Amino acid sequence: MNTILIANPKGGCGKTTLSVNIAGYLANRGKRVALFDMDRQQSAALWLDTRPYDLPIVHSKEHGRPDDGSIDWLVIDSGAGAAGGNLAFSLIKQTNKIIVPITPSLFDLQASQDFIKELIEEKKVRDSQCRIGVVGMRMEPRTRAAHALEYFVSTLDLPVLAFLRETQVYVNAAFEGKSLFDLPHYIAERELEQWAYLQHWLERD
Ligand SMILES: Nc1ncnc2c1ncn2[C@@H]1O[C@H](COP(=O)(O)OP(=O)(O)OP(=O)(O)O)[C@@H](O)[C@H]1O
Ligand SMILES: [Mg+2]
Repeated sequence: MNTILIANPKGGCGKTTLSVNIAGYLANRGKRVALFDMDRQQSAALWLDTRPYDLPIVHSKEHGRPDDGSIDWLVIDSGAGAAGGNLAFSLIKQTNKIIVPITPSLFDLQASQDFIKELIEEKKVRDSQCRIGVVGMRMEPRTRAAHALEYFVSTLDLPVLAFLRETQVYVNAAFEGKSLFDLPHYIAERELEQWAYLQHWLERD
């Protein structure tokens, strides 16, 4: 099982948006994927409930349900605040990849910093058994915010997996229980380009 945890205790940084789009990407690649919504707000669960039946299936993983071998990929959306942060540390044992979404501001960078610094001190991360990547959310490449994020993660020796720009494409897709990967190509084309390296990183060992 490949387990991808989307985590950052900073509220509103894009965890759920990233989680549902990663789940949608994997489903469209023909993977057997489940989304595990561990946030009390249950936003990812709402997206799952809204998702049309004729789209590639994203299963729902529920608390306490044992792994019956029917799923190859698990995407976990975690919540904000101390609870979300603590959850991330408690899940490291079961996780291969952690993605930390960050929105572009001094305040968000600062708020994410302690969390990431603690994450990279974890033994499993130091032993390269669990990889960490950062995604710049609601952000254009080559802006001041993008450079600040790149500099920040380079000091920690982490990769920036993508810069995903701010656009209603994500917002509108979510209303319909869709990901970028469920949309007609002409609507999502510009966004999909920004996903290229993130897609590669997700599927490599
Ligand atoms: N690339 C984007 N373009 C436009 N809007 C976006 C983008 N990414 C996220 N948003 C919007 O920003 C808001 C916060 O995103 P989201 O809910 O994914 O964050 P979150 O980290 O899950 O929040 P929380 O900490 O409350 O769980 C949402 O309204 C979402 O639609
Ligand atoms: Mg959320």
